[in-house]
Amino acid sequence: MTDDNQRRRPKASVRAIGNRRLQPNTLMMGHGFDPALSEGSLKPPIFLTSTFVFENAAAGKRHFEGVTGKRPGGAEGLVYSRFNGPNQEIAEDRLGVWEDAKDALTFSSGMSAIATVLLAFVQPGDVIVHSAPLYAATETLIGRILGKFGVKWLDFPAGATPEEIDAVVEKAQALGRVSLIYLESPANPTNVLVDVEAVANVRDTRFGTGEDRPPIVIDNTFLGPLWHKPLAHGADIVVYSLTKYAGGHSDLVAGGALGSKAHINTIRSMRNTIGTILDPNSAWMLLRSLETLELRMSRAGENAAKICAWLKDQPKVEKIVYLGFPENERQADIYRRHCTGAGSTFSLYLKGGEREAFAFLDALKIAKLAVSLGGTETLASCPAAMTHLSVPDDRKAALGITPNMVRISIGVEDADDLIADFEQALRAV
Ligand SMILES: Cc1ncc(COP(=O)(O)O)c(C=O)c1O
Repeated sequence: MTDDNQRRRPKASVRAIGNRRLQPNTLMMGHGFDPALSEGSLKPPIFLTSTFVFENAAAGKRHFEGVTGKRPGGAEGLVYSRFNGPNQEIAEDRLGVWEDAKDALTFSSGMSAIATVLLAFVQPGDVIVHSAPLYAATETLIGRILGKFGVKWLDFPAGATPEEIDAVVEKAQALGRVSLIYLESPANPTNVLVDVEAVANVRDTRFGTGEDRPPIVIDNTFLGPLWHKPLAHGADIVVYSLTKYAGGHSDLVAGGALGSKAHINTIRSMRNTIGTILDPNSAWMLLRSLETLELRMSRAGENAAKICAWLKDQPKVEKIVYLGFPENERQADIYRRHCTGAGSTFSLYLKGGEREAFAFLDALKIAKLAVSLGGTETLASCPAAMTHLSVPDDRKAALGITPNMVRISIGVEDADDLIADFEQALRAV
C-alpha cells in the first residue's frame, strides 16, 4: 500500500455511500487521487520525474524488496519511473474498477502488455493454446518470436464448441507443458466470439487446481471494459490495447493487464525488469479518457446498431459480421451468456474482392481510412491488405480474412451522417 510520506495517494477512496456501491462512472472522477496531496489540484498533475526521493534508507530498502519480488505486491512507495509512478498507479486503480479486478497494470502499448504477460508465464519448450484468429502481431509474437525459443502453439477457431476446445487442449498436453491459454474475443478482425466459460471448464477439468494449471488470458480490446467482463466468466488475466476504446480519442498508445494479485505480481516483476510501463503523460490522458468511457462507448454502440441495420440490406453487401446479428445459434448463445452489448466494430463483406473493398474505402468522406478502432471518429480499413497482411494467405483464407472484408469502427458522430457517407461510398463500388 501507499506510503503517505510520498504525498501521492489518498488514504482510502470512497467506494460506497451507505449500502450503495458506487458505479465505475462515478469512480472515474476521483478514485485513487486526493487533491490535498497535490496542492488542491482537481486533476492529478503529470509527474515528470525519472526517480523518487526516499524518506530514509530503510524505506528505500523496503521499497526495493517490493520491486524485486522479495515481498509480493510491488513497491510500497514510489521508486523509479520504470517501476511505478503516480499517474500510472491512479490509471491502474481506475482501470481495475471496470472489471472488479483485484489489481491492474498499464503498459506502453497493447503489444507490450501482451508481450510482458507471455514472457512472464511461458518458458522454452512450453505449449500455448490459443483461439484463432488473433491480432496479427500477437500471432507473430507467439508463432515466430516465441517459436524461436522453442515455444509451441496449437489453436482452435474462435467459435469452437467445448468438445473442439477440449480436443485441442488434450493434443497440446501431449506436446509439452501447457503454460497459457490465450484468447481473443471477439477475434480481430472476424468478430467471432470465444466461449470463455467453456474454455474455463475445459481447463478446470483437465488441470484441476494444481500448480500446473495454466492461466487463461484474454484480449478484451474489442468489447471491454464495458460490454464484456471476462474475469466474471472464468478468465484469469485480461489484456488490453488501451489505445482503442479505453483511450478512445485516437491520441494515445497504451496497454493494460488486469487480474488477481498473484497473477499481476508475476506480470509486474517482468514489467519491472523489461521496462514496458506506460509513460506518465499517456497515463494522464488515459485518466481523461476513462471519465467518458461509458458515454463514448454507449453512443458508438447505438450508432453501430443503427448503421448495421441499414447496411445489412444493401445490395452491394455480401454480409455483415456484427455481434448484434449473431451468425449462428452458437454465437448467439455465447453472446447472451457473456456480453451486454454488441460493440461498435464489425466486419463488412462487400460483394466482389479487393477492388470493391478499395473502391468503397477510397470513396468515404466522413469515415477515415485508417487502421485502429474504438476512437470517437469512425475508421475503416481492409484487414487482409493492412493489419493482417503479414498473415500467410492460406491462413487468412481459412480464418475468413478475405480481400472483400472491410473492418469498420463506428465513432460518436451523427449516425445518419455516417449512413449518408456509406451510401455514397457503396455507389462508388
Ligand atoms: C485486439 C487487439 N489486440 C492488441 C492490439 C495491439 O495494441 P497496440 O497497438 O496498442 O499495441 C490491437 C491493435 O490493433 C488489437 O486490435
